[in-house]
Amino acid sequence: MACTQKPKQEVIDTSDLKEREYIRAIEGVDEVLDPELVKRGKVLISYADCASCHKPEERAKGPAFKDIARRYPISQVYINLLARKVISGGTGSWGSPVMAAHPQLTMEEATAMVSYILSLD
Ligand code: HEC
Repeated sequence: MACTQKPKQEVIDTSDLKEREYIRAIEGVDEVLDPELVKRGKVLISYADCASCHKPEERAKGPAFKDIARRYPISQVYINLLARKVISGGTGSWGSPVMAAHPQLTMEEATAMVSYILSLD
């Protein structure tokens, strides 16, 4: 009689829960962003390929920039982490789609881009 148990059918509406689970906000105190860096990040993003996978407000192939801003506290630790991820690409934080690598970007450019994204919250 092993393995006969079927998964229970979910009846309650979990769309809101799923959304929160998708974003999984990380606790932290926001630091103040340099407005010049944020402005530079916005320009750099407009010249890069980010828009082919990211929209400001809605999920596309990649997470919405707003959702990224909601998840991460504004701190040097997360800005560095995310800037490195923009350069190296990767997967797993928002599900299975893979972000392309951007090895042509410098750490300074990627940092400016991430600062702009985190400013959107
Ligand atoms: C080929 C599609 C694609 C392109 C192009 C792309 N991204 Fe992404 N991006 C993704 C996907 C997919 C994820 C989610 C990755 C994950 O789940 O870890 C993501 C995640 C991110 C994250 C959050 C990473 C994390 O670990 O939470 C940041 C920040 C980001 N992208 C910035 C950028 C910037 C800036 C650019 C342009 C330079 C860019 N992306 C271009 C697909 C893309």
